[in-house]
Amino acid sequence: MNIKRWIVRLKRKQLVPSIVSLLLTLSVLLLVRVKYNQVPGSSDVLLPLGNQSFLKHNINCSSIYDMDPVEVGKSLVIRRNKVEAEDGSLIDLMDDCSLFIETRGYDDVCISEEEKDFPLAYSLVVHKNAWMVERLIRAAYSPNNIYCVHYDQKSSAQFVTAMKGLARCLPNVFISSKHEEVFYASISRLKADLNCLSDLLNSQVRWKYVINLCGQDFPLKSNIELVSELRKLMGANMLETSRPSSLKKQRFMFHHELKDISFEYGKLPVKTQQEKTPPPHGIEMFIGNAYFVLSRDFIVHMNSSTVVKDFLAWSEDTYSPDEHFWATLVRVPGVPGEVPRSQPDITDLMSKTRLVKWQYLEENLYPPCTGQHVRSVCIFGAAEMRWLLSYGHWFANKFDPKVDPILIQCLEEKLEEKRKLFQSRTALTCGKVS
Ligand SMILES: *[C@@H]1O[C@H](CO)[C@@H](O)[C@H](O)[C@H]1NC(C)=O
Ligand SMILES: *[C@@H]1O[C@H](CO)[C@@H](O)[C@H](O)[C@H]1NC(C)=O
Repeated sequence: MNIKRWIVRLKRKQLVPSIVSLLLTLSVLLLVRVKYNQVPGSSDVLLPLGNQSFLKHNINCSSIYDMDPVEVGKSLVIRRNKVEAEDGSLIDLMDDCSLFIETRGYDDVCISEEEKDFPLAYSLVVHKNAWMVERLIRAAYSPNNIYCVHYDQKSSAQFVTAMKGLARCLPNVFISSKHEEVFYASISRLKADLNCLSDLLNSQVRWKYVINLCGQDFPLKSNIELVSELRKLMGANMLETSRPSSLKKQRFMFHHELKDISFEYGKLPVKTQQEKTPPPHGIEMFIGNAYFVLSRDFIVHMNSSTVVKDFLAWSEDTYSPDEHFWATLVRVPGVPGEVPRSQPDITDLMSKTRLVKWQYLEENLYPPCTGQHVRSVCIFGAAEMRWLLSYGHWFANKFDPKVDPILIQCLEEKLEEKRKLFQSRTALTCGKVS
């Protein structure tokens, strides 16, 4: 890293008002650089984020992984005193793209032959916390993949600037051509993904599979591991798809109206007494979640199918259509990578797409949440690191640096470690982001 450039930037932006704090920042930087240069497998350097918020805390992640009580205890203390990384500091860093790429190690990602002819596409539907989006992309990064970012019409100007910065600095990241105002449980969430899917289909990259992510997801596998698992699917799709309970059926048996009733979400679809007609084309309904791993052939088929078009229109006034749209469409006879209707339910624990902990199943199906719950879903804590990595799923939800910054840091380190280990064993193509 070029320290001089930092000094110039810091002076120009007057981020650090006095010489004293400038010197302090520099000495921290130098110390950290010395420290991290000694740790094998860690190319990242601590970033001077505004005053004192850091992406890296002083913790031993292998001890966290081993659930060492002392280190887990230490993580709880850090958790209490966490400092949030501001969007502004990412924007500042991206002022100089080559500095950003170097600092964040994007120029240090090598790819194997196996990865090279198996590019992946990502649809990221995000609305806040620019650093988390950057870290998510970084963790799932490969120079031959392609990443579509859909930000919300409601997102702050600063967040939008940061997203545009990512698209400017990284050649394989782009902003979706259309933006929805996303309301929880409404069709807008689904349309956000559809906007990206359509753009991804038009991109030059001949990706094999597309994966959607939100800002609270995080990968559990490195790109090479993911590619090797996706190859084994032989064109099949991977997602949750189950027969709906009678309670869940209410979501699409009745007409819903988007109403301004929620303080937390703004608008929410509210059930009315008006019954809906059955779905078009004799479609049989299945339910799952909003997350998918879908083949290119499936998306190409969707793009031109009238069944899909009619089903989307029919879904407009249902509750949380993203949770039945994909689950239902992969069961339609004849679609590429079809899951036959006769096949038993595929639950979220069977599908490798997304590992989620539901509060009411804790202790029964999995160990309890060590983070915090939100709407019955666990935001993971550091003591769950081993469970997350050993379960076999590809991604997990939910993560939040405000709940536990250590877990995210340690997952990053683990993925990096796995990547480096693989790198040392295989012939790879390395070099700059093209
Ligand atoms: C982390 O702790 C392990 C023991 O659990 C130790 O072997 C290792 O050297 C420590 N790593 C660092 C970087 O201190
Ligand atoms: C998707 O559909 C549009 C119009 O419906 C068409 O122009 C385009 O070629 C299709 N894309 C692919 C990859 O099939």
